[in-house]
Amino acid sequence: MALERLDKILSGTGRWSRREVKDLVKAGRVTADGAVVARPEDKFDRTATVLAVDGEPVDGEKYVYLMLHKPGGVLSATEDPRQPTVLDLLPPHLRRIGLFPVGRLDKDTEGLLLLTNDGPLGHRLLSPKKHVDKVYFVRVDGTLDGADCAAFRAGLVLEDGLRCLPAELEVLEPASTGLVTLREGKYHQVKRMLADRGKPVTYLKRLSMGPIALDPALEPGTWRPLTEGERAALAELEGGPKAD
Ligand code: URA
Repeated sequence: MALERLDKILSGTGRWSRREVKDLVKAGRVTADGAVVARPEDKFDRTATVLAVDGEPVDGEKYVYLMLHKPGGVLSATEDPRQPTVLDLLPPHLRRIGLFPVGRLDKDTEGLLLLTNDGPLGHRLLSPKKHVDKVYFVRVDGTLDGADCAAFRAGLVLEDGLRCLPAELEVLEPASTGLVTLREGKYHQVKRMLADRGKPVTYLKRLSMGPIALDPALEPGTWRPLTEGERAALAELEGGPKAD
């Protein structure tokens, strides 16, 4: 395994910026195999060295996994010449490490978006074969009812010919709101399914994707690294623990 700079390894975890790593090192709070690290540019083999901050071992894995509460008005893209993207919500040190959104939410859709630079994981989560459940909170212009739930369960065939897999609709209180669970992710799918029922969507928010639920403590526009438990749940979903 190649040697990498300490500041690159630590900032790559998403927990500290390079500036903060510099301050941690200066304060003598970073150790490598128990010895205090002298300079942020010192190089280590992350697979062979226990790096620790304040005595807590740091997980120096090469991939970063973030949970973002996407606000309305930003694109689920990595760059755009005119409009803000979800990457613009991250600090500069996390914009340079190849993160991409796992799947897309429409510009006006809010809620859970996973960001990672683990390409294989992203592709597996999005694979149609995986059928990862996605749950959305929805508000419509109209009133949701049992006939809508039955139509979702049976599998809608949209006017444009799209055959939707059976989906779930739970009507909430008030009945203009509900929870939709999809096992696929076609373009504008929730909006198209509800438009087909004559009940256009006025607000859409993703609450979960597979085993990962949006953290209620995250305000729109904010993010945090996935916890170890969340990452383990993703690895399990992939069909086995992830090799580093
Ligand atoms: N379905 C939609 O219509 N839009 C989204 O952003 C996600 C699912």
